Amino acid sequence: MILYLAPLHGVTNRVFREAYFRHFGGFDGAVAPFILAVRVAKAKPQHFKDLLPGPGAEGLEPQLLGNEPLAFAETARVLSELGYRDVDLNLGCPYPMVANKQRGSGLLPFPERVGALLDAACAVPGIRVSVKLRLGRSDPRDILALMPVLNEHPLSRVIVHPRVGTQMYRGVVDLDGFARAAALCRHELVYNGDIFSRAAFEALRARFPAIEAWMIGRGAVSNPFLAEEIGTGGAVRGDRIERLRAWHEDLYRSYRDVLCGPAHPLDKMKEVWSYLGASFPGKARQLERVARAKTLAAYEGAVSEILGVMDC
Ligand SMILES: Cc1cc2nc3c(=O)[nH]c(=O)nc-3n(C[C@H](O)[C@H](O)[C@H](O)COP(=O)(O)O)c2cc1C
Repeated sequence: MILYLAPLHGVTNRVFREAYFRHFGGFDGAVAPFILAVRVAKAKPQHFKDLLPGPGAEGLEPQLLGNEPLAFAETARVLSELGYRDVDLNLGCPYPMVANKQRGSGLLPFPERVGALLDAACAVPGIRVSVKLRLGRSDPRDILALMPVLNEHPLSRVIVHPRVGTQMYRGVVDLDGFARAAALCRHELVYNGDIFSRAAFEALRARFPAIEAWMIGRGAVSNPFLAEEIGTGGAVRGDRIERLRAWHEDLYRSYRDVLCGPAHPLDKMKEVWSYLGASFPGKARQLERVARAKTLAAYEGAVSEILGVMDC
Protein backbone atom coordinates (compact mmCIF):
# COMPACT_ATOMS: atom_id res chain seq x y z
CA MET A 1 0.00 0.00 0.00
CA ILE A 2 1.21 3.50 -0.86
CA LEU A 3 -0.03 6.71 0.77
CA TYR A 4 0.43 10.16 -0.76
CA LEU A 5 -0.16 13.53 0.86
CA ALA A 6 -2.51 15.53 -1.38
CA PRO A 7 -1.76 19.06 -2.54
CA LEU A 8 -3.75 21.71 -0.63
CA HIS A 9 -2.90 25.09 -2.12
CA GLY A 10 -2.16 27.62 0.63
CA VAL A 11 -1.84 24.83 3.24
CA THR A 12 0.63 22.06 2.29
CA ASN A 13 3.30 24.48 1.09
CA ARG A 14 7.02 23.99 1.68
CA VAL A 15 7.05 25.31 5.27
CA PHE A 16 4.12 23.10 6.18
CA ARG A 17 5.53 19.99 4.49
CA GLU A 18 8.94 20.32 6.10
CA ALA A 19 7.49 20.70 9.60
CA TYR A 20 4.89 17.99 9.00
CA PHE A 21 7.41 15.40 7.85
CA ARG A 22 9.75 16.24 10.74
CA HIS A 23 7.02 15.11 13.15
CA PHE A 24 4.67 12.67 11.43
CA GLY A 25 5.16 9.54 9.36
CA GLY A 26 3.05 7.23 7.26
CA PHE A 27 3.26 8.96 3.88
CA ASP A 28 5.36 7.60 1.02
CA GLY A 29 5.27 10.80 -1.02
CA ALA A 30 3.45 14.04 -1.65
CA VAL A 31 2.18 16.10 -4.54
CA ALA A 32 2.92 19.80 -4.08
CA PRO A 33 0.20 22.43 -4.56
CA PHE A 34 0.06 23.65 -8.15
CA ILE A 35 2.20 26.31 -9.67
CA LEU A 36 1.19 27.81 -13.01
CA ALA A 37 2.73 26.41 -16.18
CA VAL A 38 4.44 29.47 -17.66
CA ARG A 39 6.64 30.42 -20.58
CA VAL A 40 9.99 30.30 -18.81
CA ALA A 41 11.32 33.54 -20.32
CA LYS A 42 8.51 35.33 -18.44
CA ALA A 43 9.00 33.50 -15.11
CA LYS A 44 10.66 35.10 -12.10
CA PRO A 45 12.87 32.85 -9.89
CA GLN A 46 10.19 33.45 -7.21
CA HIS A 47 7.85 31.27 -9.28
CA PHE A 48 9.73 28.13 -8.23
CA LYS A 49 10.49 29.06 -4.63
CA ASP A 50 8.13 26.50 -3.08
CA LEU A 51 9.92 23.78 -5.03
CA LEU A 52 13.61 24.62 -4.59
CA PRO A 53 15.71 21.60 -3.59
CA GLY A 54 15.84 21.07 0.18
CA PRO A 55 14.81 18.70 2.97
CA GLY A 56 11.10 18.63 1.94
CA ALA A 57 11.83 17.91 -1.73
CA GLU A 58 12.49 14.18 -1.36
CA GLY A 59 9.49 12.15 -2.51
CA LEU A 60 7.82 15.36 -3.69
CA GLU A 61 6.08 15.65 -7.04
CA PRO A 62 5.46 19.20 -8.31
CA GLN A 63 2.12 19.95 -9.94
CA LEU A 64 1.39 22.28 -12.86
CA LEU A 65 -1.83 24.07 -13.74
CA GLY A 66 -2.26 25.30 -17.29
CA ASN A 67 -3.52 24.49 -20.76
CA GLU A 68 -0.71 25.58 -23.07
CA PRO A 69 1.52 22.71 -24.23
CA LEU A 70 4.62 24.89 -24.68
CA ALA A 71 4.29 26.52 -21.26
CA PHE A 72 3.78 23.11 -19.64
CA ALA A 73 6.85 21.64 -21.37
CA GLU A 74 9.07 24.62 -20.53
CA THR A 75 8.04 24.66 -16.87
CA ALA A 76 8.48 20.90 -16.60
CA ARG A 77 11.98 21.26 -18.06
CA VAL A 78 12.93 23.76 -15.31
CA LEU A 79 11.58 21.34 -12.71
CA SER A 80 13.71 18.60 -14.24
CA GLU A 81 16.76 20.89 -13.92
CA LEU A 82 15.86 21.36 -10.25
CA GLY A 83 16.13 17.58 -9.85
CA TYR A 84 12.51 16.45 -10.08
CA ARG A 85 11.68 13.32 -12.05
CA ASP A 86 7.87 13.49 -11.77
CA VAL A 87 5.41 16.25 -12.61
CA ASP A 88 1.65 16.16 -12.12
CA LEU A 89 -0.93 17.82 -14.37
CA ASN A 90 -3.81 19.46 -12.45
CA LEU A 91 -7.11 18.59 -14.11
CA GLY A 92 -9.13 18.98 -10.94
CA CYS A 93 -9.12 22.59 -9.77
CA PRO A 94 -12.83 23.45 -9.43
CA TYR A 95 -12.72 27.23 -8.99
CA PRO A 96 -14.68 29.05 -11.73
CA MET A 97 -11.89 31.62 -12.20
CA VAL A 98 -9.60 28.75 -13.21
CA ALA A 99 -12.08 26.34 -14.80
CA ASN A 100 -13.79 28.96 -16.98
CA LYS A 101 -10.44 29.49 -18.71
CA GLN A 102 -10.30 25.78 -19.58
CA ARG A 103 -7.76 25.02 -16.89
CA GLY A 104 -7.98 22.48 -14.06
CA SER A 105 -11.38 20.75 -14.09
CA GLY A 106 -12.36 23.14 -16.92
CA LEU A 107 -10.25 21.01 -19.30
CA LEU A 108 -12.09 17.77 -18.52
CA PRO A 109 -14.75 18.13 -21.25
CA PHE A 110 -11.99 18.66 -23.88
CA PRO A 111 -10.07 15.37 -24.39
CA GLU A 112 -8.28 16.65 -27.49
CA ARG A 113 -6.85 19.65 -25.59
CA VAL A 114 -5.72 17.34 -22.79
CA GLY A 115 -4.15 15.07 -25.41
CA ALA A 116 -2.13 17.96 -26.88
CA LEU A 117 -0.98 18.96 -23.40
CA LEU A 118 0.09 15.40 -22.60
CA ASP A 119 1.88 15.01 -25.96
CA ALA A 120 4.08 17.98 -25.03
CA ALA A 121 4.46 17.01 -21.36
CA CYS A 122 5.43 13.41 -22.07
CA ALA A 123 8.08 14.55 -24.59
CA VAL A 124 10.09 16.41 -21.90
CA PRO A 125 13.28 14.35 -21.37
CA GLY A 126 13.70 12.82 -17.91
CA ILE A 127 10.18 13.66 -16.73
CA ARG A 128 7.38 11.23 -15.92
CA VAL A 129 3.91 12.72 -16.00
CA SER A 130 0.96 11.94 -13.76
CA VAL A 131 -2.55 13.37 -13.90
CA LYS A 132 -4.79 14.36 -10.98
CA LEU A 133 -8.38 14.82 -11.98
CA ARG A 134 -12.03 14.85 -11.00
CA LEU A 135 -14.74 12.81 -12.70
CA GLY A 136 -15.78 15.78 -14.81
CA ARG A 137 -16.44 19.49 -14.94
CA SER A 138 -20.18 19.13 -14.31
CA ASP A 139 -20.80 15.71 -15.92
CA PRO A 140 -19.24 12.68 -14.18
CA ARG A 141 -19.00 10.94 -17.57
CA ASP A 142 -16.32 13.39 -18.81
CA ILE A 143 -13.69 11.04 -17.41
CA LEU A 144 -14.99 8.12 -19.49
CA ALA A 145 -14.37 10.03 -22.73
CA LEU A 146 -11.00 11.24 -21.44
CA MET A 147 -9.67 7.87 -20.27
CA PRO A 148 -8.66 6.59 -23.76
CA VAL A 149 -6.50 9.74 -24.12
CA LEU A 150 -4.89 9.12 -20.70
CA ASN A 151 -4.40 5.45 -21.59
CA GLU A 152 -2.49 6.24 -24.79
CA HIS A 153 0.12 8.34 -22.93
CA PRO A 154 2.93 6.83 -20.80
CA LEU A 155 1.68 8.27 -17.48
CA SER A 156 3.22 7.29 -14.15
CA ARG A 157 -0.20 7.32 -12.44
CA VAL A 158 -3.70 8.71 -12.53
CA ILE A 159 -5.15 10.21 -9.33
CA VAL A 160 -8.94 10.47 -9.21
CA HIS A 161 -10.98 12.58 -6.80
CA PRO A 162 -14.50 11.30 -7.51
CA ARG A 163 -16.47 14.55 -7.48
CA VAL A 164 -17.26 16.88 -10.37
CA GLY A 165 -15.76 20.37 -10.47
CA THR A 166 -19.04 22.25 -10.10
CA GLN A 167 -19.63 20.31 -6.87
CA MET A 168 -16.51 21.91 -5.32
CA TYR A 169 -16.20 19.93 -2.05
CA ARG A 170 -19.94 19.61 -1.40
CA GLY A 171 -21.95 16.41 -1.20
CA VAL A 172 -20.47 12.95 -1.14
CA VAL A 173 -17.83 11.25 -3.26
CA ASP A 174 -19.25 9.31 -6.24
CA LEU A 175 -17.87 5.81 -5.68
CA ASP A 176 -19.82 4.30 -8.58
CA GLY A 177 -18.28 6.97 -10.80
CA PHE A 178 -14.83 6.03 -9.46
CA ALA A 179 -15.53 2.34 -10.20
CA ARG A 180 -16.56 3.18 -13.79
CA ALA A 181 -13.34 5.15 -14.32
CA ALA A 182 -11.24 2.41 -12.68
CA ALA A 183 -12.64 -0.18 -15.07
CA LEU A 184 -11.25 1.80 -18.03
CA CYS A 185 -7.94 2.97 -16.57
CA ARG A 186 -4.76 1.16 -17.71
CA HIS A 187 -2.41 3.14 -15.45
CA GLU A 188 -1.72 2.83 -11.75
CA LEU A 189 -4.83 4.40 -10.23
CA VAL A 190 -4.80 6.39 -7.00
CA TYR A 191 -7.99 7.00 -5.02
CA ASN A 192 -8.38 10.44 -3.40
CA GLY A 193 -11.28 11.92 -1.46
CA ASP A 194 -12.90 12.17 1.97
CA ILE A 195 -10.55 9.84 3.85
CA PHE A 196 -10.98 11.41 7.27
CA SER A 197 -10.53 8.32 9.47
CA ARG A 198 -9.00 4.86 9.44
CA ALA A 199 -12.54 3.44 9.34
CA ALA A 200 -13.32 5.47 6.19
CA PHE A 201 -10.07 4.23 4.64
CA GLU A 202 -10.81 0.58 5.51
CA ALA A 203 -14.31 0.85 4.01
CA LEU A 204 -12.85 2.23 0.77
CA ARG A 205 -10.16 -0.44 0.70
CA ALA A 206 -12.83 -3.12 1.09
CA ARG A 207 -14.82 -1.57 -1.77
CA PHE A 208 -11.77 -1.19 -4.06
CA PRO A 209 -9.38 -4.07 -3.20
CA ALA A 210 -7.40 -3.64 -6.44
CA ILE A 211 -6.39 -0.07 -5.54
CA GLU A 212 -2.90 0.03 -4.06
CA ALA A 213 -2.26 3.76 -3.81
CA TRP A 214 -4.27 6.30 -1.85
CA MET A 215 -4.05 10.05 -1.42
CA ILE A 216 -5.19 12.01 1.61
CA GLY A 217 -5.53 15.78 1.90
CA ARG A 218 -7.83 17.44 4.42
CA GLY A 219 -7.93 14.34 6.63
CA ALA A 220 -4.15 14.50 7.08
CA VAL A 221 -4.31 18.06 8.41
CA SER A 222 -7.44 17.42 10.50
CA ASN A 223 -5.69 14.44 12.09
CA PRO A 224 -1.91 14.50 11.46
CA PHE A 225 -1.64 10.93 12.83
CA LEU A 226 -4.01 9.51 10.22
CA ALA A 227 -1.40 8.11 7.81
CA GLU A 228 0.47 6.49 10.72
CA GLU A 229 -2.78 5.02 12.05
CA ILE A 230 -3.59 3.58 8.63
CA GLY A 231 -0.10 2.10 8.30
CA THR A 232 0.01 0.51 11.76
CA GLY A 233 -3.64 -0.47 12.11
CA GLY A 234 -4.36 2.21 14.70
CA ALA A 235 -1.37 2.57 17.00
CA VAL A 236 0.85 5.65 17.01
CA ARG A 237 4.09 6.11 18.91
CA GLY A 238 4.41 8.52 21.83
CA ASP A 239 1.96 10.88 23.44
CA ARG A 240 -0.37 12.46 20.88
CA ILE A 241 -0.75 15.84 22.55
CA GLU A 242 3.01 16.16 23.12
CA ARG A 243 3.67 15.35 19.49
CA LEU A 244 1.02 17.79 18.28
CA ARG A 245 2.45 20.48 20.55
CA ALA A 246 6.00 19.90 19.26
CA TRP A 247 4.79 20.04 15.64
CA HIS A 248 2.68 23.12 16.24
CA GLU A 249 5.63 24.96 17.80
CA ASP A 250 7.88 23.97 14.92
CA LEU A 251 5.34 25.10 12.31
CA TYR A 252 4.45 28.33 14.12
CA ARG A 253 8.13 29.22 14.54
CA SER A 254 8.88 28.38 10.90
CA TYR A 255 6.06 30.64 9.66
CA ARG A 256 7.20 33.50 11.89
CA ASP A 257 10.74 33.03 10.52
CA VAL A 258 9.72 33.30 6.87
CA LEU A 259 6.65 35.58 6.93
CA CYS A 260 6.64 39.14 8.17
CA GLY A 261 4.27 40.86 10.58
CA PRO A 262 1.84 39.05 12.80
CA ALA A 263 -0.96 38.90 10.19
CA HIS A 264 0.64 36.50 7.68
CA PRO A 265 1.83 33.82 10.14
CA LEU A 266 -1.50 34.14 11.97
CA ASP A 267 -3.46 33.61 8.75
CA LYS A 268 -1.43 30.51 7.92
CA MET A 269 -1.87 29.04 11.39
CA LYS A 270 -5.59 29.80 11.42
CA GLU A 271 -6.01 27.96 8.14
CA VAL A 272 -4.25 24.92 9.62
CA TRP A 273 -6.55 25.11 12.64
CA SER A 274 -9.62 25.26 10.38
CA TYR A 275 -8.80 21.59 9.67
CA LEU A 276 -6.95 20.57 12.85
CA GLY A 277 -9.89 21.78 14.96
CA ALA A 278 -11.71 18.57 14.02
CA SER A 279 -9.32 16.73 16.38
CA PHE A 280 -10.62 18.83 19.30
CA PRO A 281 -14.41 18.51 19.28
CA GLY A 282 -14.65 19.58 22.94
CA LYS A 283 -12.74 22.85 22.40
CA ALA A 284 -15.19 24.87 20.30
CA ARG A 285 -14.82 28.03 22.41
CA GLN A 286 -11.00 27.98 22.23
CA LEU A 287 -11.06 27.20 18.50
CA GLU A 288 -13.31 30.22 17.98
CA ARG A 289 -10.72 32.33 19.82
CA VAL A 290 -7.98 30.96 17.54
CA ALA A 291 -10.07 31.88 14.47
CA ARG A 292 -10.65 35.42 15.78
CA ALA A 293 -7.15 36.10 17.19
CA LYS A 294 -5.72 39.42 15.97
CA THR A 295 -2.42 39.28 17.86
CA LEU A 296 0.18 36.57 18.40
CA ALA A 297 -0.47 36.80 22.15
CA ALA A 298 -4.21 36.18 21.71
CA TYR A 299 -3.44 33.29 19.37
CA GLU A 300 -0.89 31.73 21.74
CA GLY A 301 -3.29 32.08 24.68
CA ALA A 302 -6.06 30.23 22.83
CA VAL A 303 -3.71 27.50 21.53
CA SER A 304 -2.27 26.96 25.03
CA GLU A 305 -5.77 26.15 26.24
CA ILE A 306 -6.10 23.53 23.50
CA LEU A 307 -2.63 21.98 23.48
CA GLY A 308 -1.25 22.97 26.87
CA VAL A 309 1.42 25.57 27.57
CA MET A 310 3.45 26.67 24.55
CA ASP A 311 7.19 27.19 24.59
CA CYS A 312 7.49 29.98 21.98
C1 LIG B 1 -7.68 24.32 0.32
C2 LIG B 1 -7.51 23.30 -0.77
C3 LIG B 1 -6.51 23.48 -1.72
C4 LIG B 1 -6.33 22.53 -2.76
N1 LIG B 1 -5.30 22.70 -3.65
C5 LIG B 1 -5.09 21.76 -4.62
C6 LIG B 1 -4.00 21.86 -5.53
O1 LIG B 1 -3.17 22.77 -5.49
N2 LIG B 1 -3.89 20.89 -6.48
C7 LIG B 1 -4.77 19.83 -6.56
O2 LIG B 1 -4.62 18.97 -7.42
N3 LIG B 1 -5.78 19.69 -5.68
C8 LIG B 1 -5.96 20.62 -4.72
N4 LIG B 1 -6.97 20.45 -3.81
C9 LIG B 1 -7.73 19.20 -3.84
C10 LIG B 1 -7.07 18.15 -2.93
O3 LIG B 1 -5.78 17.80 -3.37
C11 LIG B 1 -7.91 16.87 -2.86
O4 LIG B 1 -8.09 16.38 -4.16
C12 LIG B 1 -9.29 17.11 -2.24
O5 LIG B 1 -9.18 17.90 -1.08
C13 LIG B 1 -9.97 15.79 -1.91
O6 LIG B 1 -9.15 15.02 -1.05
P1 LIG B 1 -9.36 15.01 0.56
O7 LIG B 1 -10.82 14.72 0.80
O8 LIG B 1 -8.45 13.92 1.05
O9 LIG B 1 -9.00 16.38 1.04
C14 LIG B 1 -7.18 21.39 -2.82
C15 LIG B 1 -8.18 21.23 -1.85
C16 LIG B 1 -8.37 22.15 -0.85
C17 LIG B 1 -9.44 21.93 0.18
